[in-house]
Parts: sequence; structure tokens; C-alpha cells
Amino acid sequence: MNFNTRVAAPAAWSQLSCDALIVVSVGDGVPAGLDKTLAAVMSAAIKAGDLECKPGRSLLLMGAPGVSAPRVLFVVAADASAKAFGKAVLGAVQTLKAGGAREVALGLAGAAAGAAHAEAAVCACGEALYVYRHTKPSAAAAAPLKSMLLLCESDTRADLDEGLRLGRAVAEGVALARELGNRPGNHCTPSDLAAEARRLAKAHGLKVEVLDRKDCEKLGMGAFLAVAQGSDEPLKFIIARWNGAAKSQAPVVLVGKGITFDSGGISIKPAAEMDEMKFDMCGAASVLGTLKAVAALKAKVNLVGVIAACENLPSGRSIKPGDVVTSMSKQTVEILNTDAEGRLILCDALTYVERFKPAAVVDIATLTGACVIALGGVRSGLFTPDDALAGELTQAGERAGDPCWRMPVDAEYDEALKSNFADMGNVGPRAGGAITAAKFLQRFAGRLPWAHLDIAGSAWKSGAAKGATGRPVGLLTHFVLGRSKD
Ligand code: BES
Ligand code: MN
Ligand code: ZN
Repeated sequence: MNFNTRVAAPAAWSQLSCDALIVVSVGDGVPAGLDKTLAAVMSAAIKAGDLECKPGRSLLLMGAPGVSAPRVLFVVAADASAKAFGKAVLGAVQTLKAGGAREVALGLAGAAAGAAHAEAAVCACGEALYVYRHTKPSAAAAAPLKSMLLLCESDTRADLDEGLRLGRAVAEGVALARELGNRPGNHCTPSDLAAEARRLAKAHGLKVEVLDRKDCEKLGMGAFLAVAQGSDEPLKFIIARWNGAAKSQAPVVLVGKGITFDSGGISIKPAAEMDEMKFDMCGAASVLGTLKAVAALKAKVNLVGVIAACENLPSGRSIKPGDVVTSMSKQTVEILNTDAEGRLILCDALTYVERFKPAAVVDIATLTGACVIALGGVRSGLFTPDDALAGELTQAGERAGDPCWRMPVDAEYDEALKSNFADMGNVGPRAGGAITAAKFLQRFAGRLPWAHLDIAGSAWKSGAAKGATGRPVGLLTHFVLGRSKD
């Protein structure tokens, strides 16, 4: 879909030629300054009881008198924020996508739109129009919607254009993360992830290196290797770099959990909903999605994406509860539960990235069911002892409409990891499970400026709408851009 801006005051919207005009309004009644013709139509609809001025309500009209566009869609937003605007656009596009409109004009009436609104609109279109077809080619092809004109005033146009540019990049990154997340375990193996990284590298000028088992053995990645050893599917350790700034500039490093299927291993999971553990590589997918967005924007920043990818399966070669492994950092770990595998692959990845002397390291992982209980699907869990980094990531999430919430990392939580047989166990008690997982990782982050995002609740939806969300590509892209020099 194409996105552009068009200067058109709300007082002239009824004369626009397009297939569908979407009027997003805020507040009660007809917004001030709206085109007289449109205002009359809207007011009549409200009076007749066909349009209620409550958030989320909408009305689609064909052939409204005096209006050039054959379709007018009134949508009521909760407020004038970019978030509410994005929600309104999502609803509007979901309504229109099954119809005959190809060219759509979109305007916010009664309030000013800025860059964040434009970005939210593009991302909402991406969200509404994505169709998963990789293993279901019979699914309806993408809707006929071809282009969207964002209506604005001349003094806000440059802002909105910049928002559209950002939005296109973020939406593409989100779509990639969503697509990879949705692919089943047998269509998205560690090797497939590596191939995807190479494809991305070719298309966007990234540098990619893929390590295999032997390389990881040489590096002493005993924890990562331990998880991978139960599966016949070869592990991959993927390093992808975007060099957008001077070599002297310390890079931002993103580390993604890439468990392409998590059965739990010998500590096997119950059968119900185990299929959803194909999503256990959504952290890795978000790293690739963010690399794509940042490279597409040619951001003046150095970014390294690192992905530890393998399967977690039970077999005669699997790790067993009680086994002790030696991590790349030389710290030993007693594996009390083979289902706490994410932290085992990430701990070696965190040690590995020390070599980049990073300006910041963020790991992204579908790490704990406990985080789903704590935060549900709205906000990702953010864990870091670094207040400045916490502020940056929180702000990036708000700006992107991809929010997170800071959780505690007090030293007291660390005691849960004590082991009589190794430097630490890989699990603590059930209570506070998302925090002990973060405390485990913190032992390997050492002195790095580090943060951990637990996306177990936000990375995918269950139930009828089962599917990956592409989060937190929006948050991460804004965070990385915030570190760029332009
Ligand atoms: N990938 C899961 C976390 C998960 C579970 C995400 C359910 C979303 C929904 C992770 O590897 C895991 O199994 N964690 C265990 C840890 C426990 C054994 C300490 C969990 O959360 O149950
Ligand atoms: Mn697990
Ligand atoms: Zn897992």
C-alpha cells in the first residue's frame, strides 16, 4: 500500500476525489471546522441515532449527498492521541478492506495530527491488511486497498511525511516479525531463521555471520549447546550487523531468543496449547524485524542483532533435570527444569556480545509464563537496573504504541537461584518467576548496560485471533533511532 500526504483543510474534504473518505473525529458531536457538507451528513447521522459519538463507533455511508467520495466512513476516536488515531484507523481499514475501495483519504477532524499520528496510521494499515499465507495459500489475498492519502494542513505536512516514512519502515519490520513468528516449527527452523537473516542482509546491506555447533563448542557455549543437544535440528547462532555510523561508534546490541519450538524438553509441557510454543522465537523475529526497519531507514547508528536459535525437545540426548553445565562465562548452572531453556541460550549470547563493547544491550525473549500472569498482553515486561536505559525504552514504547512496564530487579530476588551443586540453578520458586528469570540473565550481563524485555504476553495472541503481533519491533526501532546521530 502507498502512503502520501495531501494538503486539504477539513473545510474542503467533501470535494476530495477518492474511493473512500475516512473522517476520524474526537469528542462529542460534529468536530469544529469540518466541511459544511460533511458536518450536515454527520449531524443527521447522529440525530437519527445511527452514529454514536463514543470511542470505536463508526458509520459507513454510500453516496452521501454533496460528497465527492462515493464512500464516507465516520470513525469516533477516544481522544486526539496517536494511539487513539491508530485504533480508529485500524477499525476503519478492517471495515473497508472487504469492499471495493482502492484509494482512501484519511483525516483527523477537530484536532491536529503529528508525526506519531501518521506513523500510527501506517502501522494500523499494516496490521489490518496482513494475511498469513505461508502454509495456507488458500487464504484470501491482500485486500484491494492501494493507497492512502493522509490529509493535513500545509504547516504540518513535513512532520506527517516524516511520520509516514517511519511508519512504512516500522510496519515492514513488524510484518516480518509477525510472519516469521506465525510460521510453524517445521517451516521455521534455526536454519530457516539463518536463511532469513541472509536474505535480509542481501536486500538491505547487512553483514551476517552464522555460527554452527562446532563454532559454539569452540567458544565454550555450554548452556546453549545443552539446550540444543536434544534435537536433531542443527542449532544456529546468528550475528547480523547494520553499520550506519562510524566504526568508532559503540553499537546497540539486540539479543533474541530463537527457540523455534519449546516442548519443555524432559520437563515436558502439557499438551494443551503446546502448539503456541512455535512462537518461542518471537524475540529472534523482533531482532530481524528491527534490523529491517533500521536498515530501511538508513539510520546513522551501528546495530548488532544476535540470535541464539535451536529447538527444545526431549530425546535420549536431552539434558536432564539435575544436569550441570558450564556456560561461556565459566559460571556453572544446575538445570533444575529443562523448560527454563530460554535463559540458558541467552546467557551465552550475553557473554558473547561483550566483544562488541556495546553502548547498550537489550535481550528480547518470550521468557516466562509468569510475565503473562503479571502483565497480560498489553505491556511487555522491562527489567534493568539502569534507570536511564529504562527511561529510554519506556519512552520508545510509548511513542511507538508498543508499550512496556518496568519490573523490579532487587538483589533479594537473586537468592532464589542458589544451588548446592553449581554457581546457580536455572529456576527459582513459582512466585516472582519473571523476575528470577531476569536475575539469572543479569548474572551474565555483568557490567554491560543491559535491559531485558520479557515479551511472553505481548508477542502473540491466543484464541480465535491466534497469531504473532510483531511486537516489540516498534519499541525497539524507536529505541535504536533514539541512539542514532541524526
Ligand atoms: N517459552 C516459555 C515461556 C512461556 C510460557 C511463554 C507460556 C508464553 C507462554 C519458557 O521457555 C518456559 O517454559 N518458561 C517456564 C519457566 C519455568 C520452568 C521456571 C515457565 O514460564 O513456565
Ligand atoms: Mn520453556
Ligand atoms: Zn521457551
